[in-house]
Amino acid sequence: MLPLQFASNILAQAPTWTDKEVIGTVVSVAVALASLFGIAIKFATGATRRRALKAERERQELLNELERLKTLVATSSLEDVKQQLAEARQEAEKHLKAAEGLKSSLDDVQAAVDQHQADLGTERRRIQRALNKDGQTWNEKVLSSAPDFKALDPEGRCMPVISVLNLKGGVGKTTITANLGAALDALGYRVLLIDLDLQGSLTGLYLSENEQSKLDEESHLLADFLASSFGAESPNLLDYVRAVLPDGKSALVPTTDNLAYAETNLTIRWLLREEGNRDPRFLLMKELQLKRITNQYDIVLLDCPPIINVCCVNALAASDYLLIPILPSKQATSRVPVLLKRLKEFRDNINAELKIMGILANRTQRSELTYSEENRLTALRNECKDVWGTDVPLFDTFIRQSAEIRAAEDEHRPLQPDNETFPIFEELAREVVSRLPTFCHASTSPERSAKGVTS
Ligand SMILES: Nc1ncnc2c1ncn2[C@@H]1O[C@H](COP(=O)(O)OP(=O)(O)OP(=O)(O)O)[C@@H](O)[C@H]1O
Ligand SMILES: [Mg+2]
Repeated sequence: MLPLQFASNILAQAPTWTDKEVIGTVVSVAVALASLFGIAIKFATGATRRRALKAERERQELLNELERLKTLVATSSLEDVKQQLAEARQEAEKHLKAAEGLKSSLDDVQAAVDQHQADLGTERRRIQRALNKDGQTWNEKVLSSAPDFKALDPEGRCMPVISVLNLKGGVGKTTITANLGAALDALGYRVLLIDLDLQGSLTGLYLSENEQSKLDEESHLLADFLASSFGAESPNLLDYVRAVLPDGKSALVPTTDNLAYAETNLTIRWLLREEGNRDPRFLLMKELQLKRITNQYDIVLLDCPPIINVCCVNALAASDYLLIPILPSKQATSRVPVLLKRLKEFRDNINAELKIMGILANRTQRSELTYSEENRLTALRNECKDVWGTDVPLFDTFIRQSAEIRAAEDEHRPLQPDNETFPIFEELAREVVSRLPTFCHASTSPERSAKGVTS
């Protein structure tokens, strides 16, 4: 449009020109316009060509890009995908493995829960059984893993263990243990006395209150030995003995009323199976069979409590013999067959080697038995044989009522050789020795005793 506008402007501005001039101008303008059109066309063609070229270039580029993309998809991208797939598979496998591990852990946990539930069921049944037994837990069957009792043997253990036992209280168990121990010591025996009664009467008979408190503080009591022995610490009983009697060859394992707590603790731990299959009934027996004890002592006397508890059962499990003190009264003797019935059950279950050494009458009225005392003892002997199955011997010796016994007790000591009643215990000691196998003898010579012994 610009050249036409230019031409009309010229025509409008030259009204005075001649025709030649006008024609010349018009031709010139026409030529100019043609040139302009030519240029414009030329330009237009060049731009179109450039656009076409550009378009062609772009098309080519696109084709190239397409080729490149094709190649990319065909080669490197596929590899990438493959790589990614492989990585994804690896990742998935890892998770699968972790899941499997988790599943197996869950299985383990489930198995543990099942086991605990089964254990709990066993414990429940066990406690229920104990309850059904009216507290007669001690008759529970002994597992085959329990330690063996080795009987007295000239080639093995020559140290007899004697329990002084009666479930009736106050019949003289402690008095007899203490004074028989002193008499055996006087005969040359190295005596080990063990106080198994939580009343601690035997300990009180040998040691002052101060000495007892000191041992308590130092944890040197029977309760401490039993607790650590049940805890599988293998304590040495010799660390708990306290030398007693003049030349110190005999000793006492002392007890205070703390034993009551230890008893309860041991019983509960056993019922709950806290120590696996460990059985608290054999702690003392195991120890008393060891050479370190049998080399050190010639005879062991156990002062038992008047109840069947963990200590009493330990005594029964560890003993070769029972010495049963009785009072020759009707009321006291009537309980003896009942005691033997119980002991028979223990013999059958816990210690097949348990023998009754004899029944010993204590606190008789005089030096000789009265007619009624003698009759009562004879009747008792017959009743005992019926229950026990074999003859139950009576000791020929009997201990008469004596004020000296109480007096000595008040002074925290057993009877001494200058006491009038002491020879009775020496006589008893001789009778005890006579009922032992001959290889169970004193290891020291009884020089001291020769002075005071009445044969
Ligand atoms: N022969 C006796 N003469 C005088 N008193 C005696 C005689 N025997 C025992 N005693 C006294 O009888 C009481 C009870 O004796 P002891 O403590 O020995 O009996 P126990 O059977 O051990 O009793 P527990 O069942 O309580 O353990 C004591 O005070 C003791 O001094
Ligand atoms: Mg007692």
